[in-house]
Order: sequence, then structure tokens, then C-alpha cells
Amino acid sequence: MSNKVYITTAIPYVNGAPHVGHALDYCLADVYARYSRLRGFEVRLQTGVDEHGNKIYQKAFDMGVPVNAYVDGNAKKFRDFIEKLDISYTDFIRTTDEAHARMCQEIWRRLLSHIYKAEYEGWYCDGCERFITQKEYDDNSGVCPDHQKEYKKISEENYYLRISDFKDKIHKAIESDELLILPEFRKKEVLKLLEESPDVSISRSAEQLSWGIPVPDDESQVMYVWIDALSNYITVLGYPEENIDTWWPAEAQFVGKDILRFHAIIWPAMLMGLGLPLPKTIISHGFVLVDGQKMSKSIGNVVDPIDVLNRHGVDAFRYYFLRHIDTFSDSDFTWEKFEAAYNNELANDLGNLVQRLATLASKNHIAIDNDSLEYKFDSEYTKCMDKFEFSKAFDYVWGKIQGLNKRIDNEKPWALAKNGEVEKTQKCLLGLMGDLLNANYMLSPFIPGTTSRIYEVFAGEEIAPPKTPLFPKD
Ligand code: MSP
Repeated sequence: MSNKVYITTAIPYVNGAPHVGHALDYCLADVYARYSRLRGFEVRLQTGVDEHGNKIYQKAFDMGVPVNAYVDGNAKKFRDFIEKLDISYTDFIRTTDEAHARMCQEIWRRLLSHIYKAEYEGWYCDGCERFITQKEYDDNSGVCPDHQKEYKKISEENYYLRISDFKDKIHKAIESDELLILPEFRKKEVLKLLEESPDVSISRSAEQLSWGIPVPDDESQVMYVWIDALSNYITVLGYPEENIDTWWPAEAQFVGKDILRFHAIIWPAMLMGLGLPLPKTIISHGFVLVDGQKMSKSIGNVVDPIDVLNRHGVDAFRYYFLRHIDTFSDSDFTWEKFEAAYNNELANDLGNLVQRLATLASKNHIAIDNDSLEYKFDSEYTKCMDKFEFSKAFDYVWGKIQGLNKRIDNEKPWALAKNGEVEKTQKCLLGLMGDLLNANYMLSPFIPGTTSRIYEVFAGEEIAPPKTPLFPKD
């Protein structure tokens, strides 16, 4: 088995600043990347931004900013955001990169035998950047429920990708888990969508949309933004100019539930058309809600991730979004819940435990022999991590942290020391510290900055309790 693992994130549209929802793809993929590295794999983790399409062009236009300058500014905000989130990425792609555009055009050429031109008349949602079926139009009375915008009538000649060439093969691959879609209930939804899926229009008239990659050898057409966006997963590796066999197929692709349909229908069709293998797993995460409601500018409940990061730092952010936001289903963010998690769990459960143990060890001149420690993953943890059930794995390790707090209270090492029971004190503290460091190891894919600090506290010749609390309270 190859020791190389390729992991990808969805690339957000740059039609605004990053919001907390965007952080989920980045953070989940980062957890898996860090976990895979600990298991000895060499990891390539792609991230980036999606810069073409109507929605972005329109936004720049409305703001009176040249579109190039607009996407440059926002792409930078996303990159800074990824840095702030401590994402251990290896690649950052912008779909306006010249190399990406060139490779996309070659991808198009290689798909030509599955592409045809036809007249299109139908509905389009700019918000979803997606063509809508008549049934969806009727079911939603002509207004997109996700974007509260009327669908637009489009009537023009476009290129189509013949999904029908691949339908049966895609169905088989998903049904047999050769392409594993997680969670299981999404797999069923996707199989149903696939059955109903018509051929997909994959270009727009350049008169209607100039902001995109030109269709090769036909100046009158521009590529549909999703063809360009999905291609990023392989152009970033150099396809088709370089051999990508060492990295492709991806081990895990992380996407939100709203865009699974593109990744489970159009994307496999493109890959099959190119003769490339399918990714091994597509993990579809839920949505971050605010007080049970969808975040939206019109409701005015959008949470600025920079505010969350500034409040208690990156690991408090990662902690909340990786543990209290369920990996697969929709979950709530509220400032109250975030503050409660910070104070009761990070500051009390973990911060105090580290402080207490380090202080006791230092007072009793006990140090830990790091070379003798063997870090290992508990099987319960690995079971969850391998099924991409990250929030569950996180819960499991947190149970260990809480267990250590109970143990310290029960075993009372301070009382043993006071009674002069040197050996027992030493054994008790070494046991607790060893277990804490092992839990710390399992926590490291989730809150890496904190776990390195904890490691440093206990790793030296002498244990030095943190001078400032790991998670200071106001
Ligand atoms: N540009 C496309 C993705 C192309 S991938 C080849 C896109 N962009 S997006 O900005 O709309 O969304 C980017 C990611 O953020 C998606 O995975 C989407 O599901 C996720 N989220 C956007 N809002 C979200 C929440 N409120 N909660 C969780 N994730 C959500 O789609």
C-alpha cells in the first residue's frame, strides 16, 4: 500500500469574506491530514478558492470594483483565514491561476467524446450556480429556497456533458462503496438524484458570462463554473501535464451537504471520461446553524469567524467546530454555547488538569522519561477516526480527560506526598501524566497548538507548569 495520502477541501466562492461554514471543510480535512501523518503517511492537503462564475462577477460589478481586484482581495482573506485556522495545507489553488485555466482547457478537450452542443431553455439559480429542473422550479414556486432569489430563465446554445454515458457505472461505484459516500443516508439521497439526473449543461454563452475559462476552440462559450471548480482537485496536482498517480485517487474529499450532488454525479462522470480512478471517500458534512436557523445576511445572524477566532484563539475555535458541531449533521453555534464550552471544558477540564498535574509533579521533583513513553491510539479512537466520525472520536478523548480529573481527585497525590509516601506519590503522578500525554497525542489532530504546549510542559528534564493558563478566563 502506498504511503501517500491526498486529501481535499471544497473551494469556497470568493463573493465575500470567509464565514464560519467555510471553516468546516478546512478543519475536517486538516484533522484527517494530521491523523494520517501520525499514522506514518505522507500527506498532500489541497485547499483554495473558487473565483469564477456569475455570482462573483455580479458582486464585483455591484460594488463597482474591477473583478480581478475584487477576487484578489477576497482570495487573500481566505488564505489568511486558512493560516489563522492552523490548517496544515500543502497546496492552495486559485481557479484564476493561469496554469489551472490551461489545464482545464486540456481536460475539456479530453472529454470531447462525451460532450455535445444543444439548445438549452430552462432555469438557473445564480446563488447555487446550478441549472434547475422544471420540477424543482414548480416545487419551489420559482424562488430558490436557499438564496431567496427568483430562478432566471436561460435560453441559449450550450455544451452538455453526457452524464448518461456514465450513470450505470457511477451508480455501481457508489452502491458498492467503491466510491464511499458518508454519511450513509446521504449515499441514498445521491443515488436517487443520480437516477433523475439529466445530461448537464457545462458552458454558458460568453455574451452572458465572460468571467470564466473560455471553452477551447469556441470563443462564444465559457466553461460552467463547476467544471472549472471540480477540476481543481487534479489540476493542483498537475493533471494533465504531469503524472498524478502518486497522489490520485484522493483518499478523502470533504464537502458540504449542499454540494455533494456535484461531487457524486458530475465529478465521477468527469473522472470516468478522463479514464481516472474515482476518489475513495467523499465525506459530506452538515451545516452550522445559528440558534437553529440557517445563517443568512437577510436574517442578520451571520457569525464572523474572525470574531470567534479573536475571542479565545484558534484552538477554542477548532475545539467548538470539531467537537460540538457534529461531523455529519447540522449543529448549532451560539455565543453562549461557545463560551460555556470554553469555560467548562477547555479551561476547567483540560487547562486546570494540566496546571494541577504539572504543579504537583514540579513540587515533588518528578519528571517523566519521554523516551520510555509509547504513544498509541486507543482502538475506540481509531475506529471513529477511520470512519471519519471525528466529533465522536473527539468526545471519546474528552471522556479520557474528564476521567483523569476524577482520578486525580480520587487518588489525591497531594495527600500521599504530605504523608511522606514518596514512591506512591511518584507512581500515581507518573501514571496520570503518562495517560494525559497519551490523550494529548490523540487530541493533537484537533487542537495542535495546545497539544504542543502541553507536551512541552511535561517533556523537559524538569516539569514547568505553564506560567499563564492554557485557556485564561476573562
Ligand atoms: N465554490 C463551491 C465549491 C466548489 S468545490 C470544487 C461552493 N462554495 S461555497 O462558498 O458556497 O461553499 C464552500 C463550502 O462551505 C461548501 O462545502 C459548503 O457546504 C460550505 N458551507 C457554506 N455554508 C455553510 C454552513 N453554514 N455550514 C457549513 N458549511 C457550509 O459551494
